[in-house]
Amino acid sequence: MAAVIDTGVIQTAIGSFALGIDRLRRVESAFLYDLEGGVSGDDQSSLKMLPSYIDLPTGREEGDALALDFGGTNVRARLYHLENGTASIIGEAARPLRETDRENNICRDYTTAETSSEELFDFIADIVKEAVGGNTRKNYRLGWTFSFPARQERLDHAELITWAKEISVPGVEGQDVVRLLREALDRCGLKNVTVKAVINDTIATLIAAAYSDDKVTAATIYGTGHNTGCREMYAGESGRLAQLINLESGGFSKLMQTAYDAEVDDRSERPGTQLLEKMVSGRYLGELFTNVVSAAVRGEPGEVPPDLESRLCFTAVDMSRLLAARTAPEQFDVLAAKLAPVLGNGFSLGRAEIAALKGLAEAICRRSARLVAATLSAVIKHNSVAGEIKPQTIAFDGSVYANMPGVAPAVRWAMDELLGEDGKKIELRSLMEGSGFGAAIAALM
Ligand code: GLC
Repeated sequence: MAAVIDTGVIQTAIGSFALGIDRLRRVESAFLYDLEGGVSGDDQSSLKMLPSYIDLPTGREEGDALALDFGGTNVRARLYHLENGTASIIGEAARPLRETDRENNICRDYTTAETSSEELFDFIADIVKEAVGGNTRKNYRLGWTFSFPARQERLDHAELITWAKEISVPGVEGQDVVRLLREALDRCGLKNVTVKAVINDTIATLIAAAYSDDKVTAATIYGTGHNTGCREMYAGESGRLAQLINLESGGFSKLMQTAYDAEVDDRSERPGTQLLEKMVSGRYLGELFTNVVSAAVRGEPGEVPPDLESRLCFTAVDMSRLLAARTAPEQFDVLAAKLAPVLGNGFSLGRAEIAALKGLAEAICRRSARLVAATLSAVIKHNSVAGEIKPQTIAFDGSVYANMPGVAPAVRWAMDELLGEDGKKIELRSLMEGSGFGAAIAALM
C-alpha cells in the first residue's frame, strides 16, 4: 500500500472557501463599518488607520534620492534620478532576509528572535552602502519604505507597533526605527545619508502611482503581505490637512474563518492578529493549501510522517506553478516535487486527485481575491462624497496580484459584482516596484 489523497476532504474544503455574493457583501459592509469607526477613533474598529504625515506628490519632484525598501522578504536600496517626470536607477543593491546556500551550507536569517536589532539594522545599512557604491562623502536624501504598522508624529520618525509577516526580531517594537537605522548608518560610515521620510509600502505605492496619474485614490499591496492605503477624504471637515492613511487592512478581523484558517493563525508568530492577511496574502496561501492537503492524506502509520504539514510546506510559488501548468503531467510534476520526498515515490496521485488539488489552489486564491475586492469596494464607497463614485484608479503592487494565475481577473470580477455599473469607473492598475520608487519621491517632496 502507499499513501493516497482523499479527494472528499479536498472537495469539502473547496466548498468551505467559496464566498458567494451575499457573504461578500457582508464582508464589504463590516469593512466599511470599521473604516468609519477608524475615522472617528472607535477602538472597536479592527483597522488602525495610521496617519502618514505626507500628501500626494505634484509630479514635479526632481533630483537624486535613495529609496530603501524593507518589507519582509528582500531588502532593496536604489539610487534614483528623477527628472521631467521620469526616473532612472543609477545604483542598486538587494539581498533577501533569509538565505540558504546548500552547497556552502550558509544559512542566514535576519527575521527570527535570534537576530539582534543591531544585526538586522547593520545588514540593512550595508545594502544602502552598496547601492551608493560605498560613497561616504556625497550627500544623499533617503526615503524609506518600512512595510509594518508604525505610529508616526512626523514624516521622519516611525515607531514600530508590532512586527507582521512572521518577523520576530526583538528590541525593535516600540522603538523609532529611523533612530535604529540612523545609528546603523553611522556605524558603517554613512553620515552623508539623511533619512528624510519613512512611509508604509501602501503609501509609497500610492505616491508612486500618483506621480503620473492624478486619479489614484488608493493603493493595495497584495504580495507577501496585504494592506491598503488611501487619501483621507474628510480632512477638510475636521480642519486637518489632507494626508495619506495606512489602513493596516491586513488586521481586519470581522471574518469567518475555516478550520484551516484557524490552524494557520494558531501556528503563526502572533495568533489572533492580521486575520485578513492570513487569509489572503502570499506568506500564508501556501500554508492554507498545505493544511488541507495534509488533512486529506491517508495511509498506514509508516507511510505518513507525523510532522506531515511542516514537511510538505507548499508555498504560494508552488500554487502559482500548479495553476499555470496546463496539462495533467505538468501538474503532477509540481505536486510530486513536494509530495514524493515526504510520502515516497509510490504514493498514488491520479487524474482525479490532481484535478482536486488544482481546484483547491483555485478556491484558496479565488477567496483571497474576493476578500481583497470587498475591502477595496468598501474603501471606494467610504471615500465617495454623497454616495457619488468618481472615476478613479486603484494601484496594486505585489507578487500575488501580478503573478498568481487568475487572481487579478477575480479581483476585477468581484469588484464589478459589488459596485455594479460604478465598477466601470474604477481602473485597477498594476505597478510593480512602486513601493521603492514612491519612497524616492517622498524623500524629494
Ligand atoms: C503587513 C504590514 C503592513 C504592510 C503589509 C504589506 O500587513 O503590517 O504595514 O503594508 O504587510 O507589506
